[in-house]
Amino acid sequence: MKLYLASGNDHKAAEFAALAQRSGLDAVILPARAVGGMPEVVEDTGTFAGNAGKKARALRPLVPRDAWVLADDSGVCVDALDGGPGVESAYYAGPQHDAAANLWKLVEVMRGVPAARRGARFVCVLVLLGPDGQEKVFEGRCEGVLLEEPRGGAGFGYDPIFRPAGHALSYAELGDAVKSRISHRAVAWAKLADYCARLTAG
Ligand code: IMP
Repeated sequence: MKLYLASGNDHKAAEFAALAQRSGLDAVILPARAVGGMPEVVEDTGTFAGNAGKKARALRPLVPRDAWVLADDSGVCVDALDGGPGVESAYYAGPQHDAAANLWKLVEVMRGVPAARRGARFVCVLVLLGPDGQEKVFEGRCEGVLLEEPRGGAGFGYDPIFRPAGHALSYAELGDAVKSRISHRAVAWAKLADYCARLTAG
């Protein structure tokens, strides 16, 4: 099956292609660029699923009729911040979407917060929009804690301050090989792959 990714981010397209390959799903991930680029979408629904659905529907008219659209929305949800920055993770420090500024804002906001209140999770919601217009939603989570200081050079975004539960290292220290097995995106993808495998089998 052909999945057009409703994103202008090539890093994401590569990550989903790797997830597809690892899951054994016979899927080709195509970037929005292949059909003229991702249309501008205002992510204003207040939920991961709402935003992902909006992105998927914005790309739908541009892809071939028999193709599928895949959209995602994700972020880090911190207990001590009542689930924030959550859907605002990408522009936590302002509309310029500056990943380093976002990371350091979270470090500062959480400075001095005791270990017992540093619980957090990454959440990823995937929306699969079929040729018939039907939408399926898959959610993945990765529970963990926020570190006091950034650690590690791999990954992106908030990776250096997130330590997944059951691991001694941050997402950025663990690197892509481990992260791609345990991440919120990997968990959501596994659910989607399972759904697609059943779909194509029957
Ligand atoms: P999206 O592209 O609208 O889904 O934005 C998600 C934002 O959440 C990104 O800009 C990052 O700030 C953050 N984020 C999502 N997934 C990750 C991850 O795996 N590592 C680090 N930050 C992430």
